[in-house]
Amino acid sequence: MKKIAIYPGSFDPVTNGHLDIIHRGKRLFDEIIVAVSNNPHKSPFFSLEERMAFLRKAFKGHPGIRVESFSGLLTGYVQQKKAVAVIRGLRAVSDFEYEFQMALMNRRQNNRFETTFLMPDERYTYLSSSLVREISRLGGHVRGLVPPMVEAALRKRGRRGDQALHSA
Ligand code: PNS
Repeated sequence: MKKIAIYPGSFDPVTNGHLDIIHRGKRLFDEIIVAVSNNPHKSPFFSLEERMAFLRKAFKGHPGIRVESFSGLLTGYVQQKKAVAVIRGLRAVSDFEYEFQMALMNRRQNNRFETTFLMPDERYTYLSSSLVREISRLGGHVRGLVPPMVEAALRKRGRRGDQALHSA
């Protein structure tokens, strides 16, 4: 039977670290569903549609990697997709506590799948979506940290932000 793994996250925006984790996961599982969280209580920087479009473009022509959105409990979504595992990336010890707590809480909800932690390439161990957003907002460059289309979208967003500021 096909082994499906879910890679859930906010992906706001997707970084090269996320892409690296997905490629590593694909070596272990037959199919990866990249599940973009649609949380109505959060106001993301990029809309759900934008976040999904970046990911879809990054994995165009990659069989076995699908991009979907999910809302509600992750454990329910995992069950609905008949997935055997959830993948999460671990960059540093500082990620561990939150991830451990989430994995065990998810196991308490549904004991029929495993949470698998994968480490990204060392180049990406300091990388996070929130740092990318901040660097970009303050005029720094993020080349090599995010896919080119994300870099372009951040630049465009920055320019629009500047215009709004100047016209205010
Ligand atoms: O990229 P993130 O923000 O670290 O991803 C966190 C995410 C979306 C995986 C997590 O918040 C989640 O699973 N949300 C769905 C709601 C849920 O199941 N919450 C209980 C977690 S124990």
